[in-house]
Amino acid sequence: MEWETVREGNLPIERHAGLAELLRAAYPHFPGFFAGSRSWSYVRPELRVVGRSTRDDAHAGVLRRFVEIEGRDHLVGIAGLVAVRPELQRSGTGLELMKTVAAALHSLGVAHGLLMCAPRHVPFYERAGWRRLSPRRVRYSPDDTADPRPVVDEVSTTTLVLPVAAEEWPEGTIHWHGASV
Ligand SMILES: CC(C)(COP(=O)(O)OP(=O)(O)OC[C@H]1O[C@@H](n2cnc3c(N)ncnc32)[C@H](O)[C@@H]1OP(=O)(O)O)[C@@H](O)C(=O)NCCC(=O)NCCS
Repeated sequence: MEWETVREGNLPIERHAGLAELLRAAYPHFPGFFAGSRSWSYVRPELRVVGRSTRDDAHAGVLRRFVEIEGRDHLVGIAGLVAVRPELQRSGTGLELMKTVAAALHSLGVAHGLLMCAPRHVPFYERAGWRRLSPRRVRYSPDDTADPRPVVDEVSTTTLVLPVAAEEWPEGTIHWHGASV
């Protein structure tokens, strides 16, 4: 598999259909989510990491954002749309993908990587070097691509961070001021 890291503005428009097809295959529990050529969910990424053979087999989206914690801005790279083609799963491709994501986060100069995930995916991200935070309040938008909706305000037990330029993650409520990738 060949790995590439592509900024959103450099992604040829015809590539979206292939990525959407991969995301539909990897996220069958979100029917209609990646319809047609829509290759993003709640917000469009800034950069994509793609693993390709004869077609797109693995993908992750990354978006830089300042999250606010205790009144201070903290530069993160949000990771999401993490997907490996179902027939290739459990063979190490996901870890390879996350290694390339980590390299991309380094090149973007962020303090940390940040993501929220379903509880069943925590072991995967931990294997990839991400650290699960203790339960804490998070405030985020459910979807920045649709009509404005109330901010979600909840206690998250599955927020993970990857140390990039900084080691320690600050304590306190995480105000995302936007949606997850
Ligand atoms: C999550 C995902 C990207 C993992 O990719 P993958 O290629 O299967 O991952 P790897 O083979 O590199 O797995 C590495 C390690 O992560 C852990 N892991 C991966 N999938 C796991 C699962 N379903 N349950 C428990 N542990 C898992 C294991 O420790 C695994 O090592 P092992 O196979 O030696 O036990 C893939 O399952 C996927 O695309 N899922 C559907 C889309 C999705 O839900 N993405 C996550 C959104 S938050």
